[in-house]
Amino acid sequence: MSINIAIDGPSGAGKSSISKKVAALLGFIYVDTGALYRAVAYHVISKEIPPKNESAVIQELPKIKPELRFIDGSQHVFLNGADVSEKIRTPEISMGASDVSAIPAVRDFLFELQRSIARENNVIMDGRDIGTVVLPNADLKIYLTASAEERARRRHLELTEKGDKSSFDEVLADVNKRDYNDMNRKTAPLKQADDAVLADTTKLDFDEAVDLILKISGEVLGVRNEV
Ligand code: DC
Repeated sequence: MSINIAIDGPSGAGKSSISKKVAALLGFIYVDTGALYRAVAYHVISKEIPPKNESAVIQELPKIKPELRFIDGSQHVFLNGADVSEKIRTPEISMGASDVSAIPAVRDFLFELQRSIARENNVIMDGRDIGTVVLPNADLKIYLTASAEERARRRHLELTEKGDKSSFDEVLADVNKRDYNDMNRKTAPLKQADDAVLADTTKLDFDEAVDLILKISGEVLGVRNEV
């Protein structure tokens, strides 16, 4: 039986960098499910279809083949055979992913792919509905969060390093808008599962946050950690 750790939380809470590190330390596969929603958004945006146009997005689904491949331990996202891992990391695709993720047919379309990876591997899977919908029987569920201002500060730094010119206020507005979208959509909204452990990283640096998650994993699962 595989061990499944579900990590949910709002955008910019550090889910992916923290989960990636913890997975490497535990010898688990790290699965970033947001990348699948981003791949769908990337496909429709490249065809000039507005990501909010539900019927047009649904019509495209049969033409979309998203895949997650794990190369040297790290996840790559393929869209119809092409590696789009880098191309999906723009503010436009972030917002588009949030929009397409509100469409129930898109969520259904990506559901089994996520489930099958968790069935076959020890995973740390991050997203918005992993503990509530995708892996309701996960061995451990963590809700990882931080204040909106702190999340915007981190995201702004990351974007600036990549050469993006967005201002802090624009990034904060985006963070708040995405939180609102993700928490208020009808299907599988972002929320803490009843049995999830809350981890707030507002005042923690990266190493402290990694230690916190390792500690929770050790306590709940007895997973060996060799830090
Ligand atoms: O984690 P991320 O920022 O890459 O996710 C992009 C969008 O995808 C996010 O705004 C909401 C959506 N998403 C989701 O609805 N369910 C998931 N399990 C993962 C992401």
